[in-house]
Amino acid sequence: DGQPTSATIHADKPGAVYDKDIFTQFAEHLGEGIYGGLWVGKDSKIPNTNGFRNDVVGALRDLSVPVIRWPGGCFADEYHWREGVGPQKKRPVKVNTHWGGVTEPNTVGTHEFFELVRQVGSEAYVAGNVGNGSPREMAEWIEYMTAPAGSLADERAENGHKDPWKVKYFGVGNELWGCGGNMRPEYAADVTRRYSTFIKPPAGTKILKVAAGANVEDYNWTEQMMRIAAPMLDGVSLHYYVHPAGGWPPRAEPVDFDESGWADALHEAWRMDELITKHAAIMDKYDPEKRLFLAVDEWGAWYKQDPGTHPGFLRQQNTMRDALIAAINLDIFAKHADRVRMTAIAQMVNVLQAMIFTEGSKMVLTPTYHVFEMYKPWQDATVLPLDIDTPWYAKGKYTLPAVSGSAVKGKDGKVHVGLSNADPEQTNTVTIALDGMDAGSVTGRILTAPAINSHNTFDDPDAVKPAAFSGARIEGGKLVVTLPAKSVVVLELQ
Ligand code: AHR
Repeated sequence: DGQPTSATIHADKPGAVYDKDIFTQFAEHLGEGIYGGLWVGKDSKIPNTNGFRNDVVGALRDLSVPVIRWPGGCFADEYHWREGVGPQKKRPVKVNTHWGGVTEPNTVGTHEFFELVRQVGSEAYVAGNVGNGSPREMAEWIEYMTAPAGSLADERAENGHKDPWKVKYFGVGNELWGCGGNMRPEYAADVTRRYSTFIKPPAGTKILKVAAGANVEDYNWTEQMMRIAAPMLDGVSLHYYVHPAGGWPPRAEPVDFDESGWADALHEAWRMDELITKHAAIMDKYDPEKRLFLAVDEWGAWYKQDPGTHPGFLRQQNTMRDALIAAINLDIFAKHADRVRMTAIAQMVNVLQAMIFTEGSKMVLTPTYHVFEMYKPWQDATVLPLDIDTPWYAKGKYTLPAVSGSAVKGKDGKVHVGLSNADPEQTNTVTIALDGMDAGSVTGRILTAPAINSHNTFDDPDAVKPAAFSGARIEGGKLVVTLPAKSVVVLELQ
């Protein structure tokens, strides 16, 4: 057993709202992220509704996915929306130059995306093309999607959708420092001002404009973007991927890792806290009222692709380690919920730290999916600050907090607590003082598995799945939780 851990939930000092949009998911035209994973077409034998697989959409609906980010990623900065509207058979077949050099049939375009959004019951985050598109092309796309009248609205109606759609977020390009045009920060900020000028929602409506933000610790990027472009924006993004085994290019094994690979990845996951703290401090300088949000709109683990999979498809198995990475990040976002009001895990289906895998007609849910499901009560809840005097877990050169956690008061009026134990061997018992609240009873659920690399497969889809948890009790007015090794636990207090 590990050292006893003490913690406090400050129910008397409620913090910011944990915006449900923190659970946004990213779906890019990449590998089988769209084709195969979400879209199979109306004529497929795989049960579908208007071309989208019923099994996957059903699983996503169960997660209450608030927002879907589309069409990229790097794909966004060379995507021409006109190629994806009108009769599907007439759309040009392009080459997906970023992702595997495969053909892109443009079958899933704007109308199909909004059909997916409708079926999942979410909202839209559309990323525009700044890289090789023009401000005019961007402006016309926005008009096509949102205008109630005019010839682009007529064209939309002719193509099957009379009513305007709602675009909640619009990305002013993606990774302008890299695949979006290899720009320097001052130039990118000027370009962002220029393109943002032409993002014009119809009167009485609003589109939240998100600037392509920094890569990892490129603080100067955030500095210049805020200094030069903040007045024209609603959010600035940040991309950070967990790359164990020494960084880029991805070389860590998704499944065949040892305890050192476990500790390395979780240690890298904790870096998110420092990155947000430092980027947010720069934003505070220019925007002390926190009008703008920091959108961590790409996060998750990025390993070597699964053996035998197509290079460039970024398909990687998802294990108990990924469940911990998800929980640690969701807890970190709670701490920064005043500034981080939207994040998007990369990605939704079949790509990187995926929620869901498909193969032909088969579907399997990943450990990451289960963590998102367990944390559903965090959506639009109020953060209750949780201080944990955590013991440290150390393996080789990696030392990290053994216990991560966050607490919220849900929209259901109940207090929900998430706790995870990164130690793969030892139990950790946490005794939590409940300041400003009384609790009479506690119920819980746990995600754990026999091995650090346990994972779900099409043949064994329930190897890692949530179960009832009985390791928590209220004792002398405190919450006492015994966390098994390598586990994610959620609790509900009454
Ligand atoms: O998510 C995969 C890629 O990672 C995205 O296309 C890009 O924005 C980032 O580099």
